Amino acid sequence: MKIGRENFLQLYPDARHLSRNDEFVAFETFPKAAVENGHCYVQDPSTTIACRLLDPQPGEKLLDACAAPGGKTGYLAELMQNRGLIVACDRAAERLALLDENMKRMGTAIVETFPIDWIRDPVLEKIAAAALFDRVLIDAPCTNTGVMRRRVDLRWRLTPADFKRMQKRQLEIVRAVLPLLRAGGALVYSTCSLEPEENEEVVEALLDEMSILRAQQEKRSLPFRDGFDGAYAVRLLKTR
Ligand SMILES: C[S@@+](CC[C@H](N)C(=O)[O-])C[C@H]1O[C@@H](n2cnc3c(N)ncnc32)[C@H](O)[C@@H]1O
Repeated sequence: MKIGRENFLQLYPDARHLSRNDEFVAFETFPKAAVENGHCYVQDPSTTIACRLLDPQPGEKLLDACAAPGGKTGYLAELMQNRGLIVACDRAAERLALLDENMKRMGTAIVETFPIDWIRDPVLEKIAAAALFDRVLIDAPCTNTGVMRRRVDLRWRLTPADFKRMQKRQLEIVRAVLPLLRAGGALVYSTCSLEPEENEEVVEALLDEMSILRAQQEKRSLPFRDGFDGAYAVRLLKTR
């Protein structure tokens, strides 16, 4: 948001161009200065899949329901040209504080944060007052199997029961958030899991349960095919 691509490459000549993704560069070492100056954010290119599918427009009202620490929030604000409103929520207050810090550093001016646990808490008045939203992103908590190459302990921690347990939480979050989306609005549900239980099965259950939802498009990245982290995203239209 603060700096264009050409300027960035001039200022940080160590940055290596990524041929398949114009908005990303790679560094051999952590780009401390670029990050501290708010000129970039460190994340995997797979994170853009959900944001592009959501396709937010400048001036719109967005709900980023599971937002912290804000990698996607910042990119959504950039896609919206820093115009409109993003309500960024998360149940982890300390991670939301990180999000605030990240947004400030990157010059994002349209984000308001609210701590909320969608499963346990009633919808806060301030969030309800900002509704109805034009678009909603639910970047759901998941088993993270798409980022297993970065989280080496994961394969030892996960048990088969975790996939269904997580599915239950994911469905509960979507059910709580959906009323805040306007009729005709789009909801993107995304995870960094490769598991059908947390992706396709969640979508099937939602479509079975709610006739107002229509699936529009589905995208994913696979580490062994694409060289990026694993990610899944589906765009659902709320028809009425
Ligand atoms: C995949 S992470 C979000 C990553 C974030 N979208 C980003 O791009 O930086 C999922 C988030 O969901 C939050 N979360 C988990 N359960 C939740 C709940 N019941 N209500 C609200 N947030 C929840 C977690 O604290 C976590 O920050």
